[in-house]
Amino acid sequence: MIRVLGIETSCDETAASVVAFDSGASEIRSPKILSNTVLSQIAEHAAFGGVVPEIAARAHVEALDGIVEAALADAGTDLSEIDAVAATAGPGLVGGLIVGLMTAKAIAAAAGKPLLAINHLEGHALTARLTDGLEFPYLLLLVSGGHTQIVRVAGVGDYQRWATTIDDALGEAFDKTAKMLGLPYPGGPNVEKAAEKGDAARFAFPRPMKGATQPDFSFSGLKTAVRQAASAIAPLTEKDVADICASFQAAVADALQDRVRRALERFRAEFPDMKAPALVVAGGVAANRTIKVALEALCRDAGFRFVAPPLKLCTDNAAMIAWAGIERLSAGLADTENSFAFVPRSR
Ligand code: KG4
Ligand code: ZN
Repeated sequence: MIRVLGIETSCDETAASVVAFDSGASEIRSPKILSNTVLSQIAEHAAFGGVVPEIAARAHVEALDGIVEAALADAGTDLSEIDAVAATAGPGLVGGLIVGLMTAKAIAAAAGKPLLAINHLEGHALTARLTDGLEFPYLLLLVSGGHTQIVRVAGVGDYQRWATTIDDALGEAFDKTAKMLGLPYPGGPNVEKAAEKGDAARFAFPRPMKGATQPDFSFSGLKTAVRQAASAIAPLTEKDVADICASFQAAVADALQDRVRRALERFRAEFPDMKAPALVVAGGVAANRTIKVALEALCRDAGFRFVAPPLKLCTDNAAMIAWAGIERLSAGLADTENSFAFVPRSR
């Protein structure tokens, strides 16, 4: 049995988790999440309409020790029973990364355990193996506030990015749309809620990149269209806001379907003999019902399994970081030397 303590501080969640794993068994080896403590800073950033890096870093400093203690206590364990400490090294906001990685380094040094510097995206990419015991290869759609990517996941450390956004991340497009319409931060859930009562056919918003041969995403044109629609009818009634939100979601779902369909076709061509290939979704935007339903329908048509890990593990958390550490240790790929570079945020 190996137990890894994970630490995640790359954005606005301060998180720690202990994941255990029976290294003796065969291929799928029943990992167990012993604890998963996440403290969201949403309230601290809400007044500013988005994440403020300096506030985030300070909040991580204040909270992290307590969160690590809580994660160890919830897991019924202590540092003497931990085999390694894994922490997010990036991509993310550099202040938070330094807090998390330095804390992990101090804990590892004090306890005489190895330190594993983990890439945040690898954490998202491998979560479906923790939650659903998925075998390689599979396709990952990561849609969060910072990332919009399609990645072919073929093994631990074997990731091929097939698509990314050329401008805004999808979560960012939701957040900016919310702001333009006077809805509170974080925008995604509020846009979804407003859209429930809206008419998705009222505005014919563009479907960015639809039909393009290039695989990437783009959302800034859609955002501009929303701004133009909103300013053309100001002041907005509640009904106008609902209709814009519903029309925006319909455009996003449609554009996503088009982009992901291409990737599914490409995956089929690369792995023609796979019986039930899988599309995994990760990131906060995966919480959106309209988007989920659209992707489910797409997968059904294309003969793919649709795998959506529980939302708590889809959004930023430390269990995915601990798990990525375990995967790296098991694959003999762990770089346990204490040399690492911080990786700033990228698309
Ligand atoms: O993965 P996440 O929690 O954090 C990172 O960005 O890494 O994603 C947060 C993003 C925010 O932009 C938020 O507005 C969006 O996910 N989001 C949603 C929904 N819930 C969260 N977007 C659309 N619909 C939702 N229900
Ligand atoms: Zn993330």
